[in-house]
Amino acid sequence: MPSLFVGIDHIGIAVKDLKSAKTTYQDTLGFPILGSEELPERGLEVLFVDAGNSRLELIGATRPDSEISAFLEKRGEGIHHICLEVKNIEAAVSSMKGRGARFIGEKIEEGAHNTRVAFLHPKGSHGVLIELVEKPQE
Ligand code: CO
Repeated sequence: MPSLFVGIDHIGIAVKDLKSAKTTYQDTLGFPILGSEELPERGLEVLFVDAGNSRLELIGATRPDSEISAFLEKRGEGIHHICLEVKNIEAAVSSMKGRGARFIGEKIEEGAHNTRVAFLHPKGSHGVLIELVEKPQE
């Protein structure tokens, strides 16, 4: 069976304070900043840094009822999700569902920069929230 996966697109890290995380990752750890984005409908603010052949996504809350606030309360700061790039997200989702995989939500969603994303439920992947992303064809 050919692999569904292209590679690790990014690793998401939940942080309490995005400004201070930016200072740490940029000034202390030396990661180049790639850009930031606000996702108001999800109550999130994210900042991507360049990690060589991959990226880190620092995720902060912009309101107390966001999904990341609940995560921070329960688990504290740390790795929130792993994002894997797939060649074809429909094919990946239907193949995984066909073998019993659990997804969060019913549909493939629109992500940032014309990507399409789906999230595997962490209860079905031994505690890891896995984001699948398909990038637009160039
Ligand atoms: Co992500």
